Amino acid sequence: MSLHNKNIGIALTGSFCTFDKAFEEIEHLLTEDANVYPVLSFNAQKIDSRFGKAADFYERLKQLTGRDPITTIEDAEPVGPKNMFDIMAIIPCTGNTLAKLANGITDTPVLMAAKAHIRNNKPLVISLATNDALGMNLKNVGALLNAKDIYFVPFGQDSPESKPKSMIAHTHLLKLTLESALEGKQIQPVIISPF
Ligand SMILES: Cc1cc2nc3c(=O)[nH]c(=O)nc-3n(C[C@H](O)[C@H](O)[C@H](O)COP(=O)(O)O)c2cc1C
Repeated sequence: MSLHNKNIGIALTGSFCTFDKAFEEIEHLLTEDANVYPVLSFNAQKIDSRFGKAADFYERLKQLTGRDPITTIEDAEPVGPKNMFDIMAIIPCTGNTLAKLANGITDTPVLMAAKAHIRNNKPLVISLATNDALGMNLKNVGALLNAKDIYFVPFGQDSPESKPKSMIAHTHLLKLTLESALEGKQIQPVIISPF
């Protein structure tokens, strides 16, 4: 299904090393004439790191999408009642956000938007980036892989020797994952490893 004119919630969480890839994909979606609604977790809004300053990322997101990012739980709550998005993607999705989502915890704007969105039985796409995907978080990956209305950007081990528990998404497959998820299908193979 084409992304033309689709309302897409794009939520960024604190995997700062993968922000550049997320921005590339947002640009890609905009060239498809999708309407992109940005959402930021509290940590994505406030942590400055060697990968960049939080305020610069906020500004870049605003300039790119032409919209003020959703930055509070109260501003994320209407996503459900107002049926704001056709589809939502968490890109990048940290281990922290993944674990909370799998366990029904809703304490950030991203998790509030996700909860509000999936209450309407609409598709939610996860673009994973976490060093514990094959460790502490494997049970949560499994729970979400098996959950209705949740789809994954295909992912794999990015550095099996030096980071044996790490898995990250092949972010360039976001568009294909979204198009397929809008038709209720997970693109396959969902595990593409090694990178
Ligand atoms: C520089 C830096 C890079 C990080 N990269 C990742 C990452 O790639 N994946 C991850 O799961 N957590 C990463 N973290 C840790 C998360 O930011 C942290 O777990 C945070 O609580 C996530 O909150 P959020 O999921 O609400 O955004 C990183 C932290 C810092 C400071």
